[in-house]
Amino acid sequence: MACSVNFSKKSIIFITGASKGIGRTIAVELSRHLDQNSVFILIARSEKGLDETKTQILMVDKSITVQTYVLDLSKPDINDYNKLFQNILSSVDTSGIEFGLIFHNAGHVGTLKQTADLTDLTTWHEYYDLNLFSAVLLNSVFVKQIRPIAPQLVVVNITSLCGRSPTLNLSMYGSGKAARELFFKVLALEEPKIIVLNYSPGPVETDMFETIITDAQSEVLKKSFREVKESTVLTTEQTVSKLLDILEKGDFKTGDTIDYYDRN
Ligand SMILES: NC(=O)c1ccc[n+]([C@@H]2O[C@H](COP(=O)([O-])OP(=O)(O)OC[C@H]3O[C@@H](n4cnc5c(N)ncnc54)[C@H](OP(=O)(O)O)[C@@H]3O)[C@@H](O)[C@H]2O)c1
Repeated sequence: MACSVNFSKKSIIFITGASKGIGRTIAVELSRHLDQNSVFILIARSEKGLDETKTQILMVDKSITVQTYVLDLSKPDINDYNKLFQNILSSVDTSGIEFGLIFHNAGHVGTLKQTADLTDLTTWHEYYDLNLFSAVLLNSVFVKQIRPIAPQLVVVNITSLCGRSPTLNLSMYGSGKAARELFFKVLALEEPKIIVLNYSPGPVETDMFETIITDAQSEVLKKSFREVKESTVLTTEQTVSKLLDILEKGDFKTGDTIDYYDRN
């Protein structure tokens, strides 16, 4: 299939938000499939969380190279990102790399209030800096600096149903996800040789999910998330296994959005 990713080839893989939750599981599960010479670049703010993810990868395969970078993505800066990638590329053996992958996974749920109460522009700016602008800048640096060393680029945007379907109290979160999803669809249009996937992971039991249950203004939203938690909530392993299966099969068009529940 045109979009399939062969994880047995040497790859360099960037994962944002790799210190816990879905990002950590992408890293650990991917390490079970990868060529031994592959390189992981793990990014988040928590050094402890990144170290734990690295330990879990090395328990799967000691020969994989894992580099961790403590970075606050809510302060995006193109010069910082360019320097970061230059440092990375000067410190790893890039010969023979066949795939360059980036998982835009880091995210925050934003302010969980009804729209009329979302009047603090500082929190809007912080939200969009992290959830949209950092992904835009990092992606540009990824495309420009990794294209010369990896014949096939793969961009995975972790999106959400809340970006396509209006959800109480999630206008900040959902509008950011909607903007980000369209951004990556345009990338797919402009760069047909890059494999682009927008993956919507379903409801997954992570800290973000718990934050909605504890912090939302709407009791209706809290109740519905509590009910999902007690019934159909997914583990990070379940959703990541589906994501990796979709990438391996490659039976999608570049730029598509695929939800966990779209595939058996
Ligand atoms: N859980 C769900 O039900 C669900 C559903 C749909 C979509 N998603 C999406 O899945 C992705 C992962 O979420 P999750 O559920 O795994 O949440 P999570 O467990 O809270 O993980 C969020 C990750 O983002 C990182 N992050 C947050 N703020 C950051 C910052 N300022 N700079 C750098 N990294 C930052 C966190 O690391 P640090 O705190 O160490 O920085 C962490 O690694 C998000 O994009 C989310 O929108 C989740």
